[in-house]
Amino acid sequence: MSQRPHIFVTQKVPQAAYEILEEVGTLDANQQDNLIWSAGELLQRAPGHDYLYCLVTDTIDARLLEACANATPRLKLVATMAVGFNNIDVNTASRLGIGVTNTPGILDETTADLAFALLLATARRIGEAERYLRAGKFTGWGPSLFCGAEVHHSTLGIIGAGRIGQSMAQRAHGFDMQVLYYNRHRLAREEEEKYHLTYASFNEVLQRADFISLHTPYTPETHHLINAQTLALMKPTAILINTARGAVVDEQALAQALQAGQIAGAGLDVFEREPLVEEALLRMEQVVLVPHIGSASQQTRTNMALMAARNIAAHIRGIQPPNLINPEVMRATKQAGE
Ligand code: DGY
Repeated sequence: MSQRPHIFVTQKVPQAAYEILEEVGTLDANQQDNLIWSAGELLQRAPGHDYLYCLVTDTIDARLLEACANATPRLKLVATMAVGFNNIDVNTASRLGIGVTNTPGILDETTADLAFALLLATARRIGEAERYLRAGKFTGWGPSLFCGAEVHHSTLGIIGAGRIGQSMAQRAHGFDMQVLYYNRHRLAREEEEKYHLTYASFNEVLQRADFISLHTPYTPETHHLINAQTLALMKPTAILINTARGAVVDEQALAQALQAGQIAGAGLDVFEREPLVEEALLRMEQVVLVPHIGSASQQTRTNMALMAARNIAAHIRGIQPPNLINPEVMRATKQAGE
């Protein structure tokens, strides 16, 4: 009788995932709330499993993948419960014949909701005003009390017009905003029309937009895309929104630009050295900060958990997982007759 595959789950995930995973394998799951294992701890615990179910906060680097590939049983697939996979060394996984899956398409609207919420909160000074009220400072309506920036009929600049960027554009259209976008590859005319998007160069988007919202994946090319030079192109009234990845922005340069009044505000969901946040940003009233909650609705997180579990279940059943990032791995396995 063939052995049930061993599945290692790095963190506590929504219940729905366990039901799927338990049907197809034997689980070794971290069940402790808010316990994230360090790279060293993962290295001790993960090797010797067939499947690795991980999250965006886990470091799945070459060292870990090699250890997992050299152990028995050998690791076959890493399924991350996230759309972003910059925490996984996909090149090394591919080289070792290990598949990698993610959860695309199901968190776009939820993440765009949060990006737009940050845009509104920063423009209309919601965090600052709420702190003021809770501190008992509200003594009555005032003509200039917490006057912020106009959102409707302003210009939004989208950097990265993939699914989340497009969902952001749809929200902006509801606010009668003009939407400029920059994307590595210009979208087809039908898509531009559908989302009411106007293409512009990267610099032009930064120069013309009242709000700049980042929706690029984190790659070597997008590392510090927003830096001292590119911040200097923005209007002094501009507000930067980041729900993509922290290191797309040079956080120190951003803090300096805000301090110098080079731009007016920022709404940030992601940070360069999470969970650490640049100290200066924490003290700034014109910055709205939330702890990486872009996809954090009950329904979306459940859907993500299910999708990651189904990717593993499919592989166990001999089917190509629907969200395989490196399909060449399965083609090679098939050719080798495994
Ligand atoms: C992702 O999926 O990449 C987010 O950052 C976490 O939901």
